Amino acid sequence: MTDRETLVAAARAAREHAHAPYSNFRVGAALRATSGRIFTGCNVENATFGLTVCAERVAVFKAISEGERGFRAMAMVTDREALTPPCGACRQILWEFCGDVEVVLANLDGQLEVHRMSTLFPRPFDSSNL
Ligand code: THU
Repeated sequence: MTDRETLVAAARAAREHAHAPYSNFRVGAALRATSGRIFTGCNVENATFGLTVCAERVAVFKAISEGERGFRAMAMVTDREALTPPCGACRQILWEFCGDVEVVLANLDGQLEVHRMSTLFPRPFDSSNL
């Protein structure tokens, strides 16, 4: 398997842990650090709805909280035919910690698109604006 395939497989496996009883929209994410380690995440919903956390942010915060700083790529997996991109809040967080990484969108049928954060999140607000 290529590194990209391994990352997508990790996101797909993480999706199995999604806690999505309200939306039934299950998302898996996997983040490749420059160290080579992979950090996974799934969406974790809450009865308040508003406290729900997306899969991508779970993966990023797991990595950051374990001391990782440099990242190479993020993969996301859902069951949708139209591939699911990261939400706006996740794009902001991904830009903050991962910068212009590769973002792989995939589904359970094996369809795949490869993007870069700078395309998905043009003209970001970040520390350079402060
Ligand atoms: N969700 C994610 O996990 N990532 C995204 O980028 C889009 C949305 C989750 C949040 C919520 O649990 C469900 O998908 C429906 O919005």
